[in-house]
Amino acid sequence: MSDLERTLEKALEMIEREGLARALEPGGGIDFTSNDYLGLSTSPGFREKVRCNIDREVLSAPASRLLRGTHPRHLELEEKLAEFKGTEAALIFPTGYQANLGLLTSILGPEDRVLSDELNHASIIDGLRLSGAQKHIYRHIDPGELEKELARPHPGGKTFIVTESYFSMDGDIAPLERYTALAAKYSASLLVDDAHATGIFGPHRGSGLAEELGIERDCAAIVSTFGKALGGFGAFVAGSRMLVDWLINRSRPFIITTATPPLLLAMMEAGLELCAEAAPRTRVHSLAGRLRNSLADGGIDCSSSSGPIVPIVVGGNEAALEAARALQERGLDVRAVRPPTVAPGSSRLRIAVHADHAEADIDRLAAALLEILERETAG
Ligand SMILES: Cc1ncc(COP(=O)(O)O)c(C=O)c1O
Repeated sequence: MSDLERTLEKALEMIEREGLARALEPGGGIDFTSNDYLGLSTSPGFREKVRCNIDREVLSAPASRLLRGTHPRHLELEEKLAEFKGTEAALIFPTGYQANLGLLTSILGPEDRVLSDELNHASIIDGLRLSGAQKHIYRHIDPGELEKELARPHPGGKTFIVTESYFSMDGDIAPLERYTALAAKYSASLLVDDAHATGIFGPHRGSGLAEELGIERDCAAIVSTFGKALGGFGAFVAGSRMLVDWLINRSRPFIITTATPPLLLAMMEAGLELCAEAAPRTRVHSLAGRLRNSLADGGIDCSSSSGPIVPIVVGGNEAALEAARALQERGLDVRAVRPPTVAPGSSRLRIAVHADHAEADIDRLAAALLEILERETAG
């Protein structure tokens, strides 16, 4: 064993002792874990559309977008995405992680100030770190603290607010209309990560919470992903034409990487087309409501969340792992989410309800959760 391997072995043993070790485990049982909220990834309709959309002549684009990597389909899809989000323009990024990094590092600099929700996704945290901007982390969904901070003068730089719209680990919603009003009052720019809301919220196009709250044009930028309700992979940033032109010229995670292959564009297009149907969206909200009601009847309150993400905070790492294992043994694929993804002491079962779950699946899950969690508290 090399010196490096010995050091890694010791560190891994420590991680294991803290109940924080991770391993790659393929899914089995009913999927209550993935972000495939509309059940698209396993639906025959999605597979068929992807198959039809594939251009057999052009599968890949092995060059960066600024060189030969831009295929007419990128541009066509970007136009459709702008229409979908209700903005002037949109730009595809390989992943949501890169979209947040690429957005934040290209528009923020060390002279700027950014106010960021304490529960924002790691890709936002990393983007802010790399940007060098002056950070103020405000308490989760606290417009009062946000306003206090905004009221402090910040000469010499711009001010930004950055937030997820629908929080991925808590299933709660940021008051985006209040944030847009605050942004206007204090001349700040609002950046919204709409990843988990895309395909789930929005009365007309199902494009997310920016649409639901009618604030698409009040946001300086909106990040969305294909790897959640849209059933595929990849991401895009939507905003003004000026913003997108800036990203094309200055966003290193967009520029210095290979273009998203047309093979994947076929999947993105399929997700976008299918998300126009309102019925699966309505169904997922109703199934999630059914789960929350059953849990509430049994004494587990999940009312701070809404939509398909239903978190049940267990507390300890081992307790969360144990509960997840017990559910998996019953054929219900629920996973434990532990630090650093969530704060220490708030390990949880993060349940994702899907439109293709049967009512009976939801009822089985609720009954198993009530039984297992009661046993855990008793033991
Ligand atoms: C809120 C949020 N933003 C961005 C991302 C990153 O997206 P992707 O998985 O496409 O990199 C995720 C997903 O993990 C997320 O939950």
